[in-house]
Amino acid sequence: MTGSLVSDRSHDDILGRHRLKPWYFSPYPQELTSLPILYLCEFCLKYLKSLKCLQRHLTKCNLRHPPGNEIYRKGTISFFEIDGRKNKNYSQNLCLLAKCFLDHKTLYYDTDPFLFYVMTEYDSKGFHIVGYFSKEKESTEDYNVACILTLPPYQRRGYGKLLIEFSYELSKVEGKTGTPEKPLSDLGLLSYRSYWSQTILEILMDLKPDNGERPQITINEISEITSVKKEDVISTLQYLNLINYYKGQYILTLSEDIVDGHEKAMQKRQPRFFLCVLCFTCHKGCWI
Ligand code: ACO
Ligand code: ZN
Repeated sequence: MTGSLVSDRSHDDILGRHRLKPWYFSPYPQELTSLPILYLCEFCLKYLKSLKCLQRHLTKCNLRHPPGNEIYRKGTISFFEIDGRKNKNYSQNLCLLAKCFLDHKTLYYDTDPFLFYVMTEYDSKGFHIVGYFSKEKESTEDYNVACILTLPPYQRRGYGKLLIEFSYELSKVEGKTGTPEKPLSDLGLLSYRSYWSQTILEILMDLKPDNGERPQITINEISEITSVKKEDVISTLQYLNLINYYKGQYILTLSEDIVDGHEKAMQKRQPRFFLCVLCFTCHKGCWI
């Protein structure tokens, strides 16, 4: 691809202490695409053509965290909420970086209609970006995530599911159900399937018998409790093969394999968070 940062694999991004190999085309300015390495300030995400330029930039750049409000913190993990209109430069730079790892997403310049939720990990040098998701300020299609990304050095450590969980916690605060924008990438689908399955199984396994009768729950109730859109609840139940037709009605059957698999997966999972409306408003956070 002409003008592509990824036209050959020797074109890398340096971000903080990480060297990232882009997976896909990202429309950085044409004159920079012939460089073997692009240097990014890990805090404001500005791209520079040389290490020297980056070093000069770092003497002037005061940011040690993403711009915007820190809306959640527990331990070393924080979430920052960034308005695509108020922090246009940062949001555009974030989109350019994200596009290196997202195949079919096209948002780079018109960031006004979006909010960006950036997850960071803190150490003595600052708040280092781990991943993010973007979200339309108004979605007519119930989308609660536009793009979601864990930067490659942090992938497969549970951060993706933490980002997904956060997106649903925001939907709960809004009192809405939500769904990620389609199409999902292969990795996106894997992560969402895993999150939906665990979230729904947790509810089903907590159901108590009702006066000795089989416990009952509707798809709508599962959707309301989890903020997962109804269609995604149904597709997950089908994917897990839980739905059976028995004596004229639909029943959900949890096999021992499913229960065991779920319990093992939950033991491995990162500590979870629940946004409380109070803390969301005061921009601190709580971790229950
Ligand atoms: N191979 C197999 N399984 C994987 C892989 C992989 N490479 N990566 C993640 N998974 C599985 C994990 O095993 C886990 O499932 P489990 O808990 O049941 O074992 C689940 O996916 C989530 O894993 P996490 O570690 O929480 O996710 P991660 O931090 O790696 O982030 C993400 C997942 C965000 C999709 C990441 O792979 C990524 O950024 N990919 C590139 C960008 C992308 O494709 N984004 C989604 C586009 S769709 C959209 O934006 C709406
Ligand atoms: Zn900077």
